[in-house]
Parts: sequence; C-alpha cells; structure tokens
Amino acid sequence: MTRAAHIVILPGDGIGPEIMAPTVELLRRLGSFEFEEHRFGGASIDAHGVPLTDEVLAAARRADAVLLGAVGGPRWESTDPGRPRPEQGLLGLRKGLQLYANLRPVKPFPALYGASPLRPELIDGTDLLVVRELTGGIYFGAKQRTADRASDVCEYTVAEIERIARTAFRSARSRVSSVDKANVLETSRLWREVVRRVHSQEFPQVEVEHVLVDNAAMQLLAAPRHFDVILTENMFGDILSDEAAMITGSIGMLPSASLGADGPGVFEPVHGSAPDIAGRGIANPLAMFLSAAMMLEHGLGLASEAAAVESAVHRALDAGLRTPDLGGDASTSGASRVVLDNL
Ligand code: IPM
Ligand code: MG
Repeated sequence: MTRAAHIVILPGDGIGPEIMAPTVELLRRLGSFEFEEHRFGGASIDAHGVPLTDEVLAAARRADAVLLGAVGGPRWESTDPGRPRPEQGLLGLRKGLQLYANLRPVKPFPALYGASPLRPELIDGTDLLVVRELTGGIYFGAKQRTADRASDVCEYTVAEIERIARTAFRSARSRVSSVDKANVLETSRLWREVVRRVHSQEFPQVEVEHVLVDNAAMQLLAAPRHFDVILTENMFGDILSDEAAMITGSIGMLPSASLGADGPGVFEPVHGSAPDIAGRGIANPLAMFLSAAMMLEHGLGLASEAAAVESAVHRALDAGLRTPDLGGDASTSGASRVVLDNL
C-alpha cells in the first residue's frame, strides 16, 4: 500500500467553506486521503493579522496538493495600501509555491447550453484551455503610491515567458493562440518574440497565432470554437478567463489548476467568494468539485478517480440539477447529494 495523499485544505472566505465541505465528502468517497485544514485569506487576517501565515505556506509546501475555496469579502475591502487584503494570501501562495502555470479549461456542458447568454449553436463544440502565466507581470511588479500618483510595473523575463509557452505548446492539440498587446506594450513584444522562438525551435508541429488581447476578447464571444489553447500573461488571462466562463453559462462551473515545475499544485474554482450569496446555502459547488477532479488528475495522478467526478457532475446536470446561478433552485447540499448519488 502506498501512503495516503496528504491534502492541505484552505476553505477561505464567503462561500469557500460552504463548497469545500461537500468536496471533502466527495473525496472521502473516492479514496483515503489525509486532510489538513488551515485558515486562509480574510479568515486568517481575522485570526492572525495576515492572509497567509508562514506556517500555512510551510504546510502547503509539504503537501501533495492544496485545495482552495475562495478568498475575500466586503469585510476586508479597503483602498488603504497599508491594510492587509485577503487576495495577498492568494498571490503569496502562488508566488511562494512558484505556481507559474494556471490552467483553466472551458468546456461547456451540453445540458447547460441554455444557461449561457450565447446561442447554443455558437458554443457547441467549444473545448478550450486558458494557459495563464501566474507569477509575473503587473500583479507582481513594483507598486508605488503617493498622495497624487500610483504605479504598477509590468515586467517579464525571457525565462518566465519560455516556461509558460512550453506549458501551452505541450497542452495543445492543434493550435496555440498567444494573446498579447504587442502594438502597445514592450512586455508584449518580448512575449511575442519568445513565443515565436519556442514554437519554431521546439514545437513546429503545433499551429501558432498571435492575437491582440482586445481582438481575442471579441473572438472569444464571436467564435469560441476556434480556440484550442489560449496562452497569455497574468492580467490578460485573469480577464479573458472570466469572459470565457460565460460560455459555460456560469462562472460557478469553472475549475482551475495552478502548477509549478515541481512541488504541490493549488486547485481552486475560478469564481470568487461570492459574498452576496455567502451563508445562504445556495452556492454552486460544481466548480469546486471539478477543481478536486483536476487535483486528482494533475496533482495526484489519479486519472480514473478524476474521470469519475467529472462524469458524476455530467450525469447530475443531465438529470436536471440546477443551482440558482444556472437558473434553478437547488441548494448547495441538494446539489452535492445529487452528484454524490451519481458517483
Ligand atoms: C483569479 C482571481 C484572483 C486573480 C484575485 C482574487 C486576486 O480573480 O484567480 O482569477 O486576479 O488572480
Ligand atoms: Mg479572476
């Protein structure tokens, strides 16, 4: 017998704990895992004054995988640069574990075509992956603030672009659409040059195209089926992945995996802590379940368990399961029960 995988659980804030509880239950049905739970984000600010303590970062480093709910809420919102923010915990965890590759698959479920604001014939057959650079760019550049001025520096090195480009080309089935703003930004011009070189030297068999981010935002709605892998820098990826989520009908459906070169990955839904519905028991747990599936596959090498979770979600949706974000009235616990029954 191999030892049970050790999973660090960070439920976080808002609906995070509400969707994490049934996810742990789901995982317990699939195998024997060791869970270690910690406060994170706003919950950690309340308890310890900081959103990510050294102890929690060390625990995450020791884990086989980290499962994360969501962070943030109005309680910790402030424009004062001196106040701790829950999101700093998320960024600190990504940076601390060197999770430079964020994978966000967008594959609408046929049962939910009607829930998308886009016409079914437009979204039919969409199966794309956003590969977002996660530890560089404007998120992590120097930040300055004086009484009448503020700045955020956007910086990328050749090595940072090379490694994320390789992730994208390796993930592609046919085409990589590299998204930048090379007509304006110097970082984008470097991005384009490096992606071109990695492509021609290492992945000439994959098709590549370079798309300006404004145009990509439009194409994503006009012809989502066109895309296979969308490779982009940190902030463009943040924005485009929220947009792409609506192809699936709800941001409550999108999972993600954040991976580094080695060490544990972090698996979390793309949606946030949804303070507007927190505490009401109506949050959609499906993106959290699908994030657990990504953890099983990418983090723990348990592909068949991952497939079991995905097919249970499929069957639940086919049987008509709809939480309020999808136009239905299923509660979090009701939805979870239906998925568990289909496992
Ligand atoms: C995401 C979120 C985070 C990001 C926030 C909460 C810092 O929007 O994971 O997409 O911008 O990366
Ligand atoms: Mg985002």
